[in-house]
Amino acid sequence: VILTQDELKKIAAYKAVEFVESGMILGLGTGSTAKHAVDRIGELLHLGKLKNIVGIPTSKKTQEQALSLGIPLSDLDNHPIIDLAIDGADEVDPYLNLVKGRGGSLLRGKMVEGACKKFVCIVDESKLVKHLGGSGLAMPVEVVPFCWKFTANKLREMFEDSGCVAQLRNDCKGEPFVTDNGNYIVDLYLKKEMGDLRVSSDAILRIAGVVEHGMFLDMATTVIVAGELGITTKNK
Ligand code: A5P
Repeated sequence: VILTQDELKKIAAYKAVEFVESGMILGLGTGSTAKHAVDRIGELLHLGKLKNIVGIPTSKKTQEQALSLGIPLSDLDNHPIIDLAIDGADEVDPYLNLVKGRGGSLLRGKMVEGACKKFVCIVDESKLVKHLGGSGLAMPVEVVPFCWKFTANKLREMFEDSGCVAQLRNDCKGEPFVTDNGNYIVDLYLKKEMGDLRVSSDAILRIAGVVEHGMFLDMATTVIVAGELGITTKNK
């Protein structure tokens, strides 16, 4: 049987939920993969197999999903230490560094996942890359709307050597896409891989107008990859 990409996402998600124990404070991820994990947590709560879970959502969308499933929710202000977060990613490199945010949420995820004792990232095998940003797909950067062109231009200049194109992300109506935090997203497209990721990360964050970027460096403690040949678990 050939499994669909969505079936692989679900397999990775269900595997990650095996790490969840009653009484945990849980970071709830965002995206089509994390959605399966949140559904599964809701199901186990209803079956009474999990108890006393508090979910910390990483987006408004996940908040709505979790509420509709009856998962009790809170936030980082009330729970600054999270036991476990489960979330998807757009790219995973061999060192478990991630790109996130192609679905539009990255800032809340970075805050929540940065506050976790354990961050389990769940992906299907299509997300594995040798170098972040090497797939020719977007590297998202959340920026304040104020003079976003100025910020986008600074970003483009920074990666000029990599043939960078910086593009404002639009929604389906052709209007600027607005994040949960009221910001815009500038997608960087690089023709060559960027050099040292930590150096690039710090440089991006130093540009005034940048709120956060989608590189999650050294944050995932485990990555669960579902592929045609089965599940692989990679640990930091
Ligand atoms: C949310 O905007 C993203 O950061 C997701 O975590 C990431 O895009 C993975 O999404 P999918 O699971 O839908 O591929």
